[in-house]
Order: sequence, then C-alpha cells, then structure tokens
Amino acid sequence: MSQTKPEQGLTNARILLDKRPVGWVDESCFLIEDCAEPSCGPQDVLVQAVWLSLDPYLRGRMNEGASYAPGFELGKPMVSRVVGRILQSKNPRFNEGDYVWGFLDWARRSVVSRGEGLHRIDPTLGRPSLAISALGMPGLTAWVGAIELGRPLPGDTVYISSAAGAVGQLAGQFAKRAGARVVGSAGSDEKVDFALAKCGFDAAFNYKTRNMDDALRELCPRGIDVYFDNVGGSTLEAALRHANVGARFPICGMISEYNAVDEPGIKGMQAMFAKRIVMTGLLVSDHLHKLPAYQARVAPWFRNGEMYFHEDIVQGLERAPPALIGMMKGEAIGKRLVQIVAE
Ligand SMILES: NC(=O)c1ccc[n+]([C@@H]2O[C@H](COP(=O)([O-])OP(=O)(O)OC[C@H]3O[C@@H](n4cnc5c(N)ncnc54)[C@H](OP(=O)(O)O)[C@@H]3O)[C@@H](O)[C@H]2O)c1
Repeated sequence: MSQTKPEQGLTNARILLDKRPVGWVDESCFLIEDCAEPSCGPQDVLVQAVWLSLDPYLRGRMNEGASYAPGFELGKPMVSRVVGRILQSKNPRFNEGDYVWGFLDWARRSVVSRGEGLHRIDPTLGRPSLAISALGMPGLTAWVGAIELGRPLPGDTVYISSAAGAVGQLAGQFAKRAGARVVGSAGSDEKVDFALAKCGFDAAFNYKTRNMDDALRELCPRGIDVYFDNVGGSTLEAALRHANVGARFPICGMISEYNAVDEPGIKGMQAMFAKRIVMTGLLVSDHLHKLPAYQARVAPWFRNGEMYFHEDIVQGLERAPPALIGMMKGEAIGKRLVQIVAE
C-alpha cells in the first residue's frame, strides 16, 4: 500500500482506491493519504469513525462498472458501513456524543452533509458495533436467508457454508432455534470448533481437509432440506448432489468466485428439476424495511445470552486493506471489523 507523506497541519488519514484489482486484490490497490481535517457547514455533522465493517461485497465494488452495488471511483475513498460518534453537530436531528451508522469513507473523521444517510443507534439494543454486525446488515441477511427463504421445519437438515463467518454463525443459530438439525462447513479446524462449541451447530467439517461428498453423506444422512449458500462453486455443486426433493436453497453469496477472472459455472443443475429445488437469490437491500422488527426480535436474544456473536477485530484504519484481503482469504472468525478509535 502506498502512503502519501503527511504534511504539517494535515491530520485526517483516509484510504483511497488507487488501482483496480484483476483477480485477487492486494495492498497495492490502496493508497493511504493524509488530508485536511474536515469542517462542518450549516446543518452538517462531523463523525468520528469508531467501527468500520469489512464485507465481501466490497470486492465487487472495486471492479470497473457496477455489480449489484455501484463501483468505487479510482482515486476516491473506499466506503463501508461505519459506526461513529458525533463530534460536532450543526444539525438539530443529531447531538454531540450520539452513536450513528452510515455509509462513510474509510477515514478517521468525515463530515456528513446535512447528516443525510446517518442512522442514530439505539443504545438500549446493545453495544454500538452491533448496528453493523449482528443487529445490522449481516444479521438481517442471515435471518431472511435462514428463516424466510429457508423455511426450516423442526427436524429438517440445514447445511450452511462459511459457517463460522459473519452471516453463517447467525444463520446456523437461527435455523437451530427453528428446530432444525444444523450442519456447517468452514475452512479450518478452529472454525469448525467455533461453529460447534460457540454457535451450537450439530455437526461441522473442514472443507479443505475432507472430501465434501463423504462429509455430507456422513453428517447429513437424511439429505439436505435447506442449503444456505455463502460460497457457490464446488460447495453448491455438492449441496445439489445431496439435496432432498423440495429442498430450499437461499443463495446469499458466492465468495469462491469474487476474485476469479472467469466464471466457471455450476455443474449438476439438473438436480433443480429432478428434485424440484427452490433456489432463491437474496439481496439484503430488498429487506431493509424489516430491520427494526428484526432488531426488536433478536436484540433480547443477544442480551440474554441465548445467542452468540463473535466479532473479529483489527485495530487501526491503516490496517483496513490487509484486513479486507485477509477476511476474503478466510483468516477471520466471525464478523470482521476495524476499530479506528476506542469507544
Ligand atoms: N446477498 C446479500 O445481501 C449478502 C449480504 C451479506 C453477505 N453476503 C454474502 O454472504 C457471504 C458471507 O458473507 P460474510 O460477510 O458472512 O463473510 P464471512 O463468511 O465472514 O467471510 C468470508 C469467508 O468466506 C470463506 N471463503 C473464502 N473463499 C472461499 C472459498 N473459495 N470457498 C469457500 N469459502 C470461502 C472464508 O471462510 P473459510 O475459512 O470457511 O473458507 C471467509 O472467512 C459472502 O458471499 C457475501 O458476499 C450477501
């Protein structure tokens, strides 16, 4: 990652997209820059970033042209969901000290024009970071996929890939609460132990060291009724082979392909009609109106300790680029966040 030299009096670091990745993203795609301290105009709000969310979809936004979200511009800051504290408010809707979340630049501090796009965080729901993790986008994604699209019945077998990830850890616990038998796969023995011990999965396996068909045959002896797909590729192909008639496949993500330069395609699609599988694409932005009801339902489960959620925290804005790359490569357990300053 390149770095511009800090100039005297300039103190607000931010991280720009400097180069578009081809295939795997690396640190040379980013530039860290010291820039002028932002200042508030009338109705504006100055936000101190505290928590910055690193999510797989950011990889798509680094490409030329839009995927389902608009692409980042070269030479402009990366943007993520950020939880921040209001340092200065010239807007009556926000008070200094309030915690808010919004789509903000990868910067220590940002001015938000007229406070537009900022959402005040209800402190009674839990710690502020939850607004962009378990009680925010990843949580709602897990709920819609596992419960609304998966429709698990008591005794059903629900298989979840990237089981130890931000979405996967919650999808498993939601399906379990619905009475299903929950099986997960993940890319290390440590992640498998996490899914079993912390998230209550009934069974889990390391897809890097086990043959997927052997594992699914053994751990899903009555076949798969719901496959929550986070990864696509060969995992989706295996789930098609082991699915039951009438299985539901909420398609949440295909991270195995985000850094690929070609589109390898999925084999075994004849299972779709042979087994009358219902495969449904999920985009959480279609469901954001459900967020308040989701938070009201789920926040008490975290408060009471009925559900578990792990955040994998990396310290310091300048570590956001390697932390994003590392998350895509599987080094994080749970939801990866960058902490910019102490709460
Ligand atoms: N549709 C939506 O609205 C929506 C919303 C949120 C997230 N998503 C998608 O949901 C998925 C999970 O997101 P998340 O935020 O919870 O990320 P995450 O699971 O916390 O992190 C990504 C994980 O993907 C796994 N992975 C990477 N390459 C893989 C491969 N080739 N095969 C199998 N697994 C691989 C790694 O875990 P291992 O160590 O286990 O390999 C890595 O830790 C992503 O595909 C994301 O794009 C979609």
